[in-house]
Amino acid sequence: MDVKGLNYSCSTCHVTKTHKISGRYYSRPAPNKHQFALPADDGERLACESCHGPVPHKKNEILNHHTDKVACQSCHVPRYARGGVFTKVGWDWSSAGKFTADGKAIVKKDKSGNLIYHSKKGDMRWAENVVPEYFWYNGGMSYLREGDKIQSSTRPLELNALKGDYADKDARIFPFKVMRGNQPFDPVELTLLAPYLFGKKGTGAYWVDYDWVKACDIGMREAGLPFSGKVDFIETAMYWPITHMVAPKEKSVKCEECHRRSDGRLENLKGFYLPGRDRWQFLDNLGWVLLGLTILALLLHAGLRFVSSSRREDGGKS
Ligand code: HEC
Ligand code: HEC
Ligand code: HEC
Ligand code: HEC
Repeated sequence: MDVKGLNYSCSTCHVTKTHKISGRYYSRPAPNKHQFALPADDGERLACESCHGPVPHKKNEILNHHTDKVACQSCHVPRYARGGVFTKVGWDWSSAGKFTADGKAIVKKDKSGNLIYHSKKGDMRWAENVVPEYFWYNGGMSYLREGDKIQSSTRPLELNALKGDYADKDARIFPFKVMRGNQPFDPVELTLLAPYLFGKKGTGAYWVDYDWVKACDIGMREAGLPFSGKVDFIETAMYWPITHMVAPKEKSVKCEECHRRSDGRLENLKGFYLPGRDRWQFLDNLGWVLLGLTILALLLHAGLRFVSSSRREDGGKS
């Protein structure tokens, strides 16, 4: 879709009416229905299926079998952050506030020029040409909002938990970038904290005074939310669905990258049978039973032949 190919503009897909840009995070999400939008174009042209339909493969029918459970993007965006660009994948705020022996801010970059440590921000991790992580997704997310109590004890804390599973007919396996963080939270109120970061020296802003308690006190007061006076750090994860960066068709994800015994792309997605990855106990058992029966039959057969041939020999002698 780039300039060398179809040269699509953003609004070819992100059809925009009266300032309403189509897209999940704006006003009109890409439709989950597996159907053409053209030629009866109603403006909902954002999904891959809107132009290609749900069964786009002409040569390989088995690929079309996948589209009800595997999103187009899962096979057609083999990797993200391609072409020498880096994307930030981790941000640990808990290590912020370190200084050199003579009190100067520390700024570190890696050999590609990415900022990996800053006294203001802590440690950051970057990656390029990244294999996405895959999850069931029906297009819905439940967001953790400002002031929401942290209910779940599972870690990392999900900032936007994904909805959908194998049984959900609208859900498909979808590729994601997962942004991992370590963020300030209140261990008594059980909420994420909103620190005051930017301001003049002496105002309590973290980026000049480097005091988390003070910065969170001001930030939470400003937000009208309770603060216990305690600051801890919590591991967080944020999910970014991946749709752009469709690769040329020859670069699509290969069968064996999903359908293999170990280290496959869908290694962590459980609760359904994936040929090549899973062993189906019933089939396996059936296999053993059949094998046993076959051996038994062979033995019986050999035994009978032995008996009959020795009879024949007997007959010959007598
Ligand atoms: C081939 C179609 C296509 C083209 C061309 C395209 N996008 Fe997208 N884009 C999508 C789809 C599909 C989504 C996911 C939307 C959803 O799930 O509701 C998306 C998501 C996004 C998002 C995330 C916000 C959201 O609502 O999901 C942004 C931002 C975005 N596109 C910007 C752009 C920009 C800027 C361009 C041009 C440089 C562009 N897109 C070109 C198909 C396209
Ligand atoms: C606005 C219409 C439109 C949308 C939306 C769209 N495509 Fe396409 N796509 C085309 C056209 C037109 C072609 C060129 C004709 C063809 O090869 O079928 C094409 C070509 C392709 C090809 C073949 C590229 C090659 O190497 O020859 C792939 C793969 C593809 N699209 C995947 C996708 C995926 C995945 C999405 C969703 C993220 C998507 N398309 C969304 C119109 C669209
Ligand atoms: C299971 C993986 C997988 C899924 C899911 C998948 N594709 Fe493909 N697709 C491929 C592969 C592999 C090729 C290359 C086939 C070839 O070169 O023979 C391909 C080729 C294509 C082409 C080029 C035309 C053709 O027949 O080769 C288009 C267009 C396309 N896919 C669109 C889509 C759209 C749209 C979806 C979602 C409705 C989708 N694909 C879902 C793996 C997949
Ligand atoms: C992105 C991961 C992925 C890729 C790539 C992929 N598959 Fe699959 N495949 C799946 C999943 C997930 C299922 C299970 C779907 C279900 O339960 O409905 C599946 C199911 C199947 C099945 C059993 C269901 C059926 O349609 O008969 C076969 C056979 C299969 N795939 C063959 C292939 C072949 C051949 C290729 C390459 C051309 C391929 N797959 C590429 C993920 C993948």
